[in-house]
Formats: sequence, C-alpha cells, structure tokens
Amino acid sequence: MSLSKDLINKFSYITSMAAAATFAYIGKKDKIAADKAAVDMMRREINKLNINGKIVIGEGELDEAPMLYIGETLGSGQGVSLDIAVDPVEGTNLVANNLPGGLSVIAVAEKDNLFNAPETYMNKIAFGKDVPKSALDLDFSIEKNIKNLADVKNKDIKDITACLLDRPRHNELIRELNKLNVNLKLITDGDVSGALLVTEEKHNVDIFLGIGGGPEGVLAASALDAYGCNFQGRLIFEKEDEISRAKKMGISDLKRKYEINEIIRGDSIFCATGITDGDLVEGVKKVDGQYHTETLVAHKNSNINVVKNKVTIA
Ligand code: FBP
Repeated sequence: MSLSKDLINKFSYITSMAAAATFAYIGKKDKIAADKAAVDMMRREINKLNINGKIVIGEGELDEAPMLYIGETLGSGQGVSLDIAVDPVEGTNLVANNLPGGLSVIAVAEKDNLFNAPETYMNKIAFGKDVPKSALDLDFSIEKNIKNLADVKNKDIKDITACLLDRPRHNELIRELNKLNVNLKLITDGDVSGALLVTEEKHNVDIFLGIGGGPEGVLAASALDAYGCNFQGRLIFEKEDEISRAKKMGISDLKRKYEINEIIRGDSIFCATGITDGDLVEGVKKVDGQYHTETLVAHKNSNINVVKNKVTIA
C-alpha cells in the first residue's frame, strides 16, 4: 500500500506548525521551552488526523514524557494504522542558540514497519546511492571503508569528505580520518541532518559516520531509504538501565547490526522543516503574522521535494 498524497501534505503541515511554534524561542537559550512548544503543537496537530497512529520514537517513555511518549496512540483511531517517529526539535541546542541546522522532524510508516529504537546511542554509517551496499560496512575498519569509498567513487582519498559529530568520543576516529587525509565536516549537533548530507552531491559529503542518538539514527534511515541511500546502525548499551530497557523492548541481541531495511520497511514519509537555516532547508521566517517554512519531504513511493508552506498559529 502507498501512503496518500493527502497524508504527506498533512505531515509536512504538522512539522511546519511545530517549527512555527518554536519561532519565539529561537536564540532564547531555553532548549526545554523550545522543545515543549514544538511537542505540544505536534501532538495537537497529529491528534486531528483521521489515523490510528502509534508513537514508536518520541520524547521518551511514559514515566519521563507526558506527551509523545513511546507507545502513545494518536489520531482519531480510525483510518490507516501508522508507526510514527517524531523529533519535534532535532538540535535543541542549535535552536536555543540560534545556530544553523535546527529541524522539526517526523517519519511515518505503516504499522509495524518502523524500528522502535530505545533512547541509547547508536554507531552509524550512511552513504549515497552511488556506492554499492556491500562496499562499506560498520564492521570494516575505517581505512577499509574509506579506501573502498574512494575506489567506487573514483576519487582520491584527499577528495573524500566525512561528516561526523564533533565529540570527544570521536577523537580516535578523527585522528584516523586525518591520518588518511580525509576532509572532515564536523558538526556540533543535529546528526539527522548530518547523515542526510550524503543524499546529494551538492552537499559534498561522501560518508556520514560515528556515534549519535539511536532515535535520530532511525529518523535518518527512514529518509535515506526514500532516497535509495544506505545506512547501518548498531545500538550501544552501556548502562544497566539501558540494558534493561532494551530487554523490555524485546531486543535480545545487544550487539546486533541493523541494516536499513530492518529499520524501515514499506512505504514511508519523512518530513523535516527548518527551524533555523541549515544545509537541507531554510529556517522558519515570520512575515506579516504568518510563518513561512521550508520542509524536506521524502516519500518513498514518489518524489523528494522541498515544500514551502505558510502557516498561521491561532
Ligand atoms: P537534541 O535535539 O535532542 O538535543 O539532539 C541533538 C543531537 O545532536 C542529535 O542530533 C544527536 O544524535 C545527539 O544530539 C548526540 O548526542 P550527544 O550530544 O549526547 O553527543
């Protein structure tokens, strides 16, 4: 089954409304308030849909998140049954500090087709559709991945660019990439956007890699799938509570590597509206009382577009 055009428009409207709701908090140094504004708006708007929706990735478990918690059902309860992954503000620091790349994000698939990732870190690798799936692997060494990438892209290693989060945990990875003479694109936050830079040549990123949030990995994978790009992820369980949560969620193999088609299956919709200007889309602007938004809409069974909306908050 294919998800309808009407549904796609509705979800791009919803991320636009969530982005508009955060407008007043851009650069206000209050990431909790920015997130809350987007969460409230997103939940209000999803609830208006004639769907039987279930949050599979949200703000956390019921005991830590009163809204958009994992397992919460949303919508009229009728219509198509959907798995919904939300990140009302992806890059809360970016929005709170008015830095580029803050997004409001939703991914949707038909029931039981979207991976329910716990709130842990994930080791990730993403690359474009011009690279055969078998050429790169999370289990290969960095050197092997970069050499294979350069080979299949017919580039010198010095012309390969790798994007990753700028974090102390990546010091060794950064050192290895440096030694290989790879160009780095280090991002301070927002690795959904970072991973999506492999989708188009204009972004000049050949590979995204490193450790970021697991939920963000699922969101990125759903967009990459629509683009025909590749992604692998392995969740990282270190603390006792993470391990018990994983078991509760039915994850028995804690070291399992997930392929993109184990994270997202079937038709899907991915919408990411810019809150602050970024590489993928422009941020929300307020013009004559209306909010002008740009949304990257990736629908697996049709097109990938940047959609402009004008929304009003009553
Ligand atoms: P938030 O929007 O929840 O603050 O997440 C931002 C982010 O940069 C994600 O894009 C990324 O996956 C994660 O944080 C990385 O976590 P950490 O900051 O702990 O390294």
